[in-house]
Amino acid sequence: MPSTVRQDEFRHITTKVLYMMKQTGEKITMLTAYDFLTGKFLDAAGIEMILVGDSLSNVIQGNETTLPVTLEQMIYHTKIVKKAVERAMVIADMTFMSYQVGVNEAIQNCGRVMKETGCDAIKMEGGAYLSETVRRLVEIGIPVMGHLGLTPQSINKFGSYKTRGTDKDEAQQIYEDAIALEKAGCFSIVLEKIPSSLGKKISKALKIPTIGIGAGEFCDGQVLVTHDMLGMIEEFKPRFVRKYMNLASDMKDAFRRYIKDVKDDKFPTKDESY
Ligand code: KIV
Repeated sequence: MPSTVRQDEFRHITTKVLYMMKQTGEKITMLTAYDFLTGKFLDAAGIEMILVGDSLSNVIQGNETTLPVTLEQMIYHTKIVKKAVERAMVIADMTFMSYQVGVNEAIQNCGRVMKETGCDAIKMEGGAYLSETVRRLVEIGIPVMGHLGLTPQSINKFGSYKTRGTDKDEAQQIYEDAIALEKAGCFSIVLEKIPSSLGKKISKALKIPTIGIGAGEFCDGQVLVTHDMLGMIEEFKPRFVRKYMNLASDMKDAFRRYIKDVKDDKFPTKDESY
């Protein structure tokens, strides 16, 4: 059992706390939130990082990919999550095309997200080609989390959501990208859907924490989409999602029972009035 960082000594989780957790081998936890109450419950439960992911495009907006969500919408959701959170680090995902065009535009958009939402850091997908952007952002005080492996904003290039890095060349590319992002100044990197052996190799090579989603048990922390782990999305059943509730069927059952009660004239009961 690794020694643990006395997190109760820290009023707020910072990049420094996460770095210390990596040194002591204490696993780091991250889940997504897109609204006030989820942010509040996650913070109360003691999570270290809350990601306002661009997965809100799929989960909240019902889109097939993460591409359509706008920067304005990310700002709106990050703001309401941040309002609920006192201790956890809140990270906002940068949207497709808000940071890829050029360094100056990336700085402007990331700066806007930090300033208008009060979040603690931003996350962006991509490898070594982002090095200069990351370096400049970190220089001006914007902490950056990287994201490698399956990067959903590149779905049209990949053509599927299959595991990345299964062949030698792609695995080597992801490894080199991770080294480049650490060198550029990222404080942590999400590794999505890569073989566990590659997750292990990258996690061992880096001083900054890796946060895995479908990247095996050797990452320094784990992240899931909250709606997946609560069992709210019944059709989505990848092996790496552990379901802690079956909220979709519980909600549908509650809705049916309410409808029946009203139809049967059992709600409200006679003495339940304002
Ligand atoms: O947008 C998101 O929810 C993410 C996680 C899957 C890491 O990027």
